[in-house]
Amino acid sequence: MDSSWLETRWARPFHLAFVFCLALGLLQAIKLYLRRQRLLRDLRAFPGPSTHWFYGHQKLIQDGKLEKLEELVEKYPRAFPFWVGPFQAFFYIYDPDYAKTFLSRTDPKSKYLCKFLVPCLGEGLLNLNGPKWFQHRRLITPVFNFNILRSYIKVMAHSVNIMLGKWEKICGTQDTLVEVFGHIRLMTLDTLMKCIFSQETNCQINRQDLRLFMGHDLLCNLFTVIVFAVTLVMGNYYSIPDQIIQDRKNSLKDEKKQCNTQKKYQDFLDIVLSAQGENGDSFSDTELRSEVNTFMVAGQDTMGGSISWLLYHLAQNPEHQERCREEIRSILGDGSSITWDQLGEMSYTTMCIKESLRLIPTALSISRELSKPITFPDGHSLPAGITVVLSIWGLHHNPAIWENPKVFDPLRFSQENANQRHSHSFLPFSAGPRNCIGQHFAMIKLKVTIALILLRFRLTPDPTRPLSLLPQVILKPKNGVHLYLKKLS
Ligand code: HEM
Repeated sequence: MDSSWLETRWARPFHLAFVFCLALGLLQAIKLYLRRQRLLRDLRAFPGPSTHWFYGHQKLIQDGKLEKLEELVEKYPRAFPFWVGPFQAFFYIYDPDYAKTFLSRTDPKSKYLCKFLVPCLGEGLLNLNGPKWFQHRRLITPVFNFNILRSYIKVMAHSVNIMLGKWEKICGTQDTLVEVFGHIRLMTLDTLMKCIFSQETNCQINRQDLRLFMGHDLLCNLFTVIVFAVTLVMGNYYSIPDQIIQDRKNSLKDEKKQCNTQKKYQDFLDIVLSAQGENGDSFSDTELRSEVNTFMVAGQDTMGGSISWLLYHLAQNPEHQERCREEIRSILGDGSSITWDQLGEMSYTTMCIKESLRLIPTALSISRELSKPITFPDGHSLPAGITVVLSIWGLHHNPAIWENPKVFDPLRFSQENANQRHSHSFLPFSAGPRNCIGQHFAMIKLKVTIALILLRFRLTPDPTRPLSLLPQVILKPKNGVHLYLKKLS
């Protein structure tokens, strides 16, 4: 009797729960089916590669092969839908007219990217949207004012010279094989630490200093640590001690009292903290920390890669390397001091930098979720809700825009040739309201670095180690960047 009583007593709720779950599952399945039908209908007008019903196009670029993307760009010269499974598709674009229409709007960042970025960085410029983003952008814009950037040239040159001192010790007078990416990444980190919070970490010489500053060991293994895993375990990836923010707030108050602003240069914290005092708008400490994290990450990986690709391209193309060196020597002499105006005179070197950023745009793509329908100049439309991905790689390798897109040819960026191209053919820093806020900083850093390196070293490639790229949100080298360096007498 007991057992049948138990059976009836428990069987009914289980039964009900089972039916409830089944109904929920069915509802979900219907929702997914309708979603697929809607996406198929919305994207019908755009041809694309054939797709597997379950994997979509994922197998197409399974190994992250960028060559495959280039083939697709050649076949579908404006755009194509990219299915990432049965129920989700992104719309890839790489045509300048499409890019212009897309970038003139203020659609929010794609939630897929934000899901990944927010836990790592906090809510900073890269992943904020709407009025909050606008407020942050307004408060931070003065950091990149030309007078401030001018004062950073010395700081940048100092970090590069520390790296070159290390290279001189490693190399002697023989051609010596060096993995340069690791050195460059530390050197850019050193510059950023100084420009963001005037912090001397000595990190290029002694990594222990960096560990002490950051309060944990992981930062020194950035090259290998998977950001997301770290985030799950540790919380914020980069965590500057709150003490630094508090100390700076206090010292700014004291400076105001004593009218004493005798610093050599104003760093990120100085500028942002004083800007927010002036107009009553302010960042909380958490917001400020998120912005510092954002700038460290947005600045370091992009710069480390871009400088390394430039060295690689110049090593591969010795005639261009020599022409840059001659130009730099004629402007800078021995490079003992570098000025803003001198950087402006380096026209051939600037063309090589741009060509390198074209061939390997460190930020592979940017994505947004359409908040309202979009109509492209050729009349094709997409409804709200679609995730559009502007493939900067696709745009920069699009044979409809660039003749022989794989060839390194700096003359593409002569004034005359650039004037004949569409304004949105070359977008390493994106464009429009959400363009890269650090782009002038980046260009100056690239020029200072390449100028000082070429004055002291000759670069030659190692044919046994061609560059292999790891296509993540930010492009990284798969196995480092190996070059022969020879000290110039
Ligand atoms: C060669 C180096 C760099 C490249 C190729 C690059 C590229 C880009 C691109 C393509 C975007 C647009 C991202 C999007 O819309 O999703 C962007 C945004 C941004 N970049 Fe850079 N960047 C570089 C250097 C820097 C540096 C040095 C900093 C800071 C020190 C920086 C800070 C940022 C920030 C904060 C944003 C977000 C801006 C906003 O949404 O308002 N970047 N960058």
